[in-house]
Amino acid sequence: MRNPPPQGIRLADYRPPDFLIDSVDLDISLHRSKTRVVSRLAIRRNPKGRPGAELTLDGDGLVLRRLLLDGASVAAEATPDALTLHATPDAPFVLEIETEVDPAANTQLSGLYRSGSAYCTQCEAEGFRRITYFLDRPDVLSVFTTRIEADVAEAPVLLGNGNRIDAGALEGGRHFALWRDPFPKPSYLFALVGGDLSHISERFATRSGRMVDLAIYVEHGKEKYASYAMDSLIRSMRWDEEVFGREYDLDVFNIVAVSDFNMGAMENKGLNIFNDKYVLASPETATDGDYAGVESVIAHEYFHNWTGNRITCRDWFQLCLKEGLTVFRDQEFSADQRSRAVKRISDVRGLRLQQFPEDAGPLAHSVRPNIYHEINNFYTATVYEKGAEIIRMLKTLIGADDFAKGMTLYFDRFDGTAATIEDFLSCFAEASGRDLSQFSLWYEQAGTPLVTVESDYDAAAKRLTLSFEQSTPATPGQSEKKPFVIPLALGLIGENGDEIPLVSREAGAQECERGLIELTTQKRVVAFENVGSHPVVSLLRGFSAPVRLAPPQAAEDLQRLLAHDSDPFNRWQAAQSLALRSIFARIEAARGGPAAEADGPFFDALGRLVEAPERDPSLVAQALSLPSDIDIAREIGRDVDPDVIFSARSGLRRDLGRRLSAALADARARLVPAEGFSPDAGSAGRRALRNAALDLIAAGDPGQGGALAERQFGEATNMTDRLAALSTLSLLPGEAREAAFEAFYARYAGDHLVLDKWFALQSTIPEAETTKRVAQLMEHKDFSLANPNRVRAVVGAFANGNPTRFHALDGSGYDLLASVVLELDPKNPQLAARLLSALRSWRSLEERRRKLAEATLRRVLAAPALSADVSDIATRALG
Ligand code: TRP
Ligand code: ZN
Repeated sequence: MRNPPPQGIRLADYRPPDFLIDSVDLDISLHRSKTRVVSRLAIRRNPKGRPGAELTLDGDGLVLRRLLLDGASVAAEATPDALTLHATPDAPFVLEIETEVDPAANTQLSGLYRSGSAYCTQCEAEGFRRITYFLDRPDVLSVFTTRIEADVAEAPVLLGNGNRIDAGALEGGRHFALWRDPFPKPSYLFALVGGDLSHISERFATRSGRMVDLAIYVEHGKEKYASYAMDSLIRSMRWDEEVFGREYDLDVFNIVAVSDFNMGAMENKGLNIFNDKYVLASPETATDGDYAGVESVIAHEYFHNWTGNRITCRDWFQLCLKEGLTVFRDQEFSADQRSRAVKRISDVRGLRLQQFPEDAGPLAHSVRPNIYHEINNFYTATVYEKGAEIIRMLKTLIGADDFAKGMTLYFDRFDGTAATIEDFLSCFAEASGRDLSQFSLWYEQAGTPLVTVESDYDAAAKRLTLSFEQSTPATPGQSEKKPFVIPLALGLIGENGDEIPLVSREAGAQECERGLIELTTQKRVVAFENVGSHPVVSLLRGFSAPVRLAPPQAAEDLQRLLAHDSDPFNRWQAAQSLALRSIFARIEAARGGPAAEADGPFFDALGRLVEAPERDPSLVAQALSLPSDIDIAREIGRDVDPDVIFSARSGLRRDLGRRLSAALADARARLVPAEGFSPDAGSAGRRALRNAALDLIAAGDPGQGGALAERQFGEATNMTDRLAALSTLSLLPGEAREAAFEAFYARYAGDHLVLDKWFALQSTIPEAETTKRVAQLMEHKDFSLANPNRVRAVVGAFANGNPTRFHALDGSGYDLLASVVLELDPKNPQLAARLLSALRSWRSLEERRRKLAEATLRRVLAAPALSADVSDIATRALG
C-alpha cells in the first residue's frame, strides 16, 4: 500500500506537471489472477513544467514486466509505487509499459477488481496507478483507446469509455473489444467492465438530434429491476438540456450495476459504474426512499458528464468544484421532479445530520481543504453537501439570471480543461459584476457560522429592529475567522397570520424589501417600518445559508410559524424547534429541574395538520417526524448522554402518539392507497404519512400499534409499507417481532439489497441485547466483510444509527467498532476509515464515554501496519 508523505500534501505546493500525456493506448488481457496490461503513452514535456526534469510515473503495488522507450529497451527505476526514467528525453517519446495485476486478490475495490463474476474498475481518486504506471493526477488529460480481451465464456460483455470501434473473436475461446474516447480526460475517469451481464436499452435523441444508445447492464435476471434507473436517466438527460443547456456528447452511454462498491457510483466517461443499490428497484424490493436514491444518483453521475468530465479538477483540493456543483444540480433535478419543499427539507436534514457534526468536530475541514494526507478521506459531507450549499447561496445572492449566465460562461470558457474554484467564481463575478472575494471565504473557512438575532418591536413607532451578529467557532488549524457573506431570507408574520409587507428606510432598503438580507459584517442592524401588529420573524427561509440560528424562538412564535408561514421549510422547522424545546424541557425535568412545560398546544397544532385534508401528506409526514437522537445530541453539543436523550425523545413520542391517536388513525383510513403501485412523489407522500402515523400510534399504544403493524407487515404489497411495519415492530420486543424478522428473511433470502435492510434494522434496535445481536449477525452465513453494503448495513447502521448501544457505558459498542475496523483495514482501508469516522464527535460526549471513545481511537492508532486511510482519521480525530 502507498505511503503518503508524512507532512501531507498541500494546495500551496501545486505545480503543473512536468510532462503531458497526449494519448494512452491500453491493451488489457483479462484473467482472474494475472491480467496483463500494456500501456503505450505518447509523452512530451509540458512547456509549463520544469525544464530537464526527469519523468516519474505513479504506481501502487505494481510489478513492471517490460519497458520500452520508442520501441527500444531502456533503463529505469521501478518500485511498486513509482517508475522513474533517469535519462528522460527532451523530444516527445512513446513509452510502452507492461504490468501484471491480480484482480481476484484486489479486496480494496480500487483499481481493477472483481465484483461477483465480473471484472470492473474504480479509479477515482488514485486507482488508475493500481493498474499501470501513469501521471495519475487530474490535470493530465489524455485521449484513451482501450483494447479489452477476455474469455468469451467468462466475459461476453466488454465495455470501455467512449464509443466501441471494433470487436471480434480470437483464438482459444477469447475475444476482444476496442473502445475509443475522443474526449481528453484524466486517468481517474478511466473504466472498463468485463462480464456475463444482461442489459436493457433505449435510444435517446439529444435536442440537436444526436442519437444515443443507452444501456444499463445488470446481473442476469435483474433486467426488470433496472427500468426506473433507465427512466431516471432519460429524465436527467432531458432536464440538463432544458435547465443547463447541456447535451450529451457520445454515441453511447452505459451504466453497469455491481454489488461490491465502496461508494454510491462513479461517473467514468460514457461508462458509469454503480453500486447496484442505486440501480435496482421494484415495488416489492425498494422503498420510496430507495427510488428517490436511484433517481438522484443516476442524475448525479450523468450530470458529472459536464461538471466533472468535460470540465474537470486541476487537483484534488478542487474536488468540490465537481462534487458540490453536481450535488447542487442533482438536488435541483429532484426538486423539479418531485416536491421542492420536501426535497429541501430532506437535504437540510441530511446536511445537519452529516455535515454539521463534521464541521463541529476534529475532522472539520474547509470545503476546499488546503492539506490532506489521504484524499479518499475527503469525499465528505463538507465537500459534497456544504459544497452544494455554497452554489445555492451564490445563486440566491446574484439571482437566477446572472447565475445562469455565469454557468454558461463557465461551460464555454473551461470546457476541456482542469479548472479551479477561482476559475469557477471568476465566471460569476463577471456575469454579475459583483466582487466575490469575500464570498470565496465559504471555500476557505471551516466551521458552521452561528447567527444570533435580537428582535425589538416598538408598537408605538410600528418599527421592528433586528440586530444580527455572526460568529464562527475555531476549527483545526483555523483559530480566527473572518465574517462570511450570509444571505438571510426572511419574512414577517403578523398576528392574524398574514405576511407583513417589508418596508425599510435603510441604505440597502431594496434587499431588505425583497426579503433577503446580506450579512457581510460581524454585526448588522436592520429596521422595518409600518409593522402594524406584533410580528414573528420567519428567518432563514428555505434554509438560505448553512448556519445555525440563536436564540431559540418562543413557543408561541413557533406556533404562529407552524400554522401560517408561507415558507414550507420554515413551517417544518417550527415543528422541529417545538419538538426540541419539548425534549430539552423533558431532559431538564428528568434532572430534577422544573416540570416540563405542557406540550398540549404543540400536539394540537400537529393534530390540525394531520386532520387538514388539503395539506400535502408528505409535508405533514415530515412535520411528524421528530428530530432524531442524533439531531438532539448535536443541538445539545456538549456532555452528551445518549441514554438521557433517548428517554426524553421516547417520552415525547409516546405522549404525542397518545394525544393524536384518533387523528392518526383517521388519516391512515383516509390515505388507504389505490390499487397498484406508483413510485411518484404524491403516492410516496401518502405512504409516508400513513407510516409516520403507524409509528406514532405504536409509540402511544404498543398493543394497538403492534397489532396494526403486524397486519400491515403481512398484507403489504410494496417494500415501503412492509419495511415501515417491520421498523415499527422492531421497537416492540417480543415474539411477534422475531417472527416478523424470520418471515422477512425467508421471503427475501435471495435478494442481497433487501437483506441489507433486514440486517440494518436489527442493528439499530435500541435495546441492551442488540450489541450481542450485531455480533451474531456478523457470524450469519450471509454476512461478509468483502461486501461494503453489507458491512455498512450491520456495522455502519450500528455505529451511526444506534446511539444508546454504540455509546454503551461498558464500552462494548466501541469495542465492536474497533475490532471490525482493524480486521477490515488490511482488506479495504477506505471502508475501514469511513466506519471509524463514526467516532468523530467523541469530544461532545459526557466524560465517561468521552474517555472510552478516546481510548478506542488510541488503541486503533497503536495497531501495527495501519493503512494511511485509518491512521489519518484516527490521528485527526484525536488531534
Ligand atoms: N465521484 C464519485 C461521485 O461523487 C465518488 C466516488 C465513487 C468515489 N467511487 C469512489 C470517490 C471511490 C472516492 C473513491 O459520484
Ligand atoms: Zn459526484
